[in-house]
Amino acid sequence: MEKEQARRQIEALSKTIEQHNYSYYVLAQPSISDFDFDTLLEELIALEKQFPELVSPNSPSQRVGGDITKNFETVAHQYPMLSLSNSYSRAEITDFISRTQKAVNETLEFVCELKYDGVAISLNYQNGTLQRAVTRGDGNQGDDVTANVKTIKSIPLRLQGDFPKNFEIRGEIYYPKSSFLELNKLREKQALPLFANPRNAAAGTLKLQDSAEVAKRKLDCWLYYIMLPDEERRIATQYDSLQKAKSWGFRIPNNIALCKNQEEIFEFIDDWEQARHDLPFDIDGIVIKVNSFTQQQQLGFTAKSPRWAIAYKYKAEEAETRLLSVDFQVGRTGAVTPVANLEPVLLAGTTVKRASLHNADFIAQLGLHKHDFVMVEKGGEIIPKITSVNTLQRETDSLPVKFITNCPECGTELVREQDEAAWYCPNSDGCPPQIKGKIEHFISRKALNIDGLGEGRIALLFDQGLIKNAADLYDLSYDQLFGLEKIIETPDEDNPGNIIIRKVSFREKTSKNILESLQQSKTVPFHRVLYGLGIRYVGETVAKKLADALLSIKKIAQATIEELIEIDEIGDVIAKSVHQYFRDEKHIQLVERLKEKGLQFEQEQKANLENAKLGGQTFVVSGIFSRSRDEIKQMIDDNGGKNSSSISKKTAYLLAGENMGPAKKEQAEKLGVKIISETEFMKMISG
Ligand code: IVH
Repeated sequence: MEKEQARRQIEALSKTIEQHNYSYYVLAQPSISDFDFDTLLEELIALEKQFPELVSPNSPSQRVGGDITKNFETVAHQYPMLSLSNSYSRAEITDFISRTQKAVNETLEFVCELKYDGVAISLNYQNGTLQRAVTRGDGNQGDDVTANVKTIKSIPLRLQGDFPKNFEIRGEIYYPKSSFLELNKLREKQALPLFANPRNAAAGTLKLQDSAEVAKRKLDCWLYYIMLPDEERRIATQYDSLQKAKSWGFRIPNNIALCKNQEEIFEFIDDWEQARHDLPFDIDGIVIKVNSFTQQQQLGFTAKSPRWAIAYKYKAEEAETRLLSVDFQVGRTGAVTPVANLEPVLLAGTTVKRASLHNADFIAQLGLHKHDFVMVEKGGEIIPKITSVNTLQRETDSLPVKFITNCPECGTELVREQDEAAWYCPNSDGCPPQIKGKIEHFISRKALNIDGLGEGRIALLFDQGLIKNAADLYDLSYDQLFGLEKIIETPDEDNPGNIIIRKVSFREKTSKNILESLQQSKTVPFHRVLYGLGIRYVGETVAKKLADALLSIKKIAQATIEELIEIDEIGDVIAKSVHQYFRDEKHIQLVERLKEKGLQFEQEQKANLENAKLGGQTFVVSGIFSRSRDEIKQMIDDNGGKNSSSISKKTAYLLAGENMGPAKKEQAEKLGVKIISETEFMKMISG
């Protein structure tokens, strides 16, 4: 195909794809099937591969992410990002109305909007394309998070209609409630720390270094404030500016109201006080803004906030109820979490029966006694929390709640490490929830991927005394499995306090499936088996690094801490954890047994690194290339090179694509790392 023709086709495809993105993510009205959408995107990617010079940084193909930002560049805001003055009472709103009325001395109209509880963002558009996305930071300067923001599909990369040439638009990036729950569930499975609330999840996600990872998360965005350039004075009000922004392709709140007086404003506040709990995202109040821009200008700003707007914050809903008892739950890492059982109480639309007490310090801070009356609150957090104790209602002879000293599951004395808030059960190989947790991890998809077994069936096999560790799975026979069944009760995570009752059974097909899958798992590559062992801090990537560097379990087990630290991307904490794991005789025995069963505990040397074209040298890949970044990394791997995400003294080459961040370049120059282009790289591996 001719280049000119390709340019036109890429342009047309990009437009069509973004239009479908707009229909789906902004209007919530899908205009094409997922399959057809993927076909269009693949077509675009194929063309871009053929004509790499035609790839635009704002092509829809860039939304899948891939750019790594090691250090987010600090950028000064052109106009400071101010905050809003907060109010908690209607009297303060009345004051605000009369204050503004008096200052302007004209009839006023107000816009009421929801106050989104997320992370403020400022987007800059030039000639209709997204240039830069910057966080609020300290209000004067924030972090450049453009690569990550581009993965949010409701944020247009190119605008439509009669947009201004150069302008900034501000809004709030948030994590939808349901996606937040899913994310935390997944993190819990992976033994990663949980996010306390959707706001923290949004903030944490925006600052991830790998934009491909951000693309997998479900961030979304509402835009609510346009900094219009002077030539755009034709737009006279906040309300109209939002409608205009909508016509340019932005996702603009639809829950806004024009209010003429105090009564209408109070009605808006009242309506959302309850209804906010049914929204798919968190809000923590509403925002009242003077509608007319001329009047806004007349009112001006204080040092911190505009005089033409005020936030009304809803009080977190509270209720008083009674503590019935405290449970102590042991997680799969051995951490013990105290949970309060409460007399059921209605709060923010749901019945609350349980609340987390976090740890021993939290109980001590509350000064909690048995059967105390407590205040529970449901704020931004999904799990209700106890905020205070009503000591006036305390029974005279009531004793303080004491943290247990021994594991409620296995009786082992609990330990607490320096600087850690949690108490742990150290009996990691003998404590039932920890054993079951480890086996669940071993069979999970990214580890040994054993079909047909899940939490319920593992629990049943464990209760029957058939499995005590992962190696026991390989001793199971059809006769042992077939016919087993049990009614299992598990706490309902979505409705704390409720119990889900299910029947778990092993029928003919399931039993055969499991045994077949166990056989299959003997071909699972070494790095996944290593990951499956569940060594603390050894996730998928670390397992692969260890396996590639040392090639066998024997060498890993024998390595000293210093030798482990030598390996690319293995730090102090991981090295110590790996070293310690193999100093435990039980772990050595487990590995020996799994080895006897036929699992993979070594791998072949990839290529003779010294003789391979890239001779074991470390590459950092950054920017946009004619091929996907994954493809390039694979080529590095295949030719005996090493990939790293950050530039250090060990880096041999920075492979620089289009639009690479200036920070990377600077750092490479500082450390004397050679910067090469895609063409030079291709020469290296072909020559
Ligand atoms: S207008 C000059 N509108 O609240 C202030 N802000 O405390 C312009 N926020 O940093 C902001 N929802 O992140 C505005 N509908 C809304 C909002 C909103 C949430 C956040 C924003 C700001 C903070 C102010």
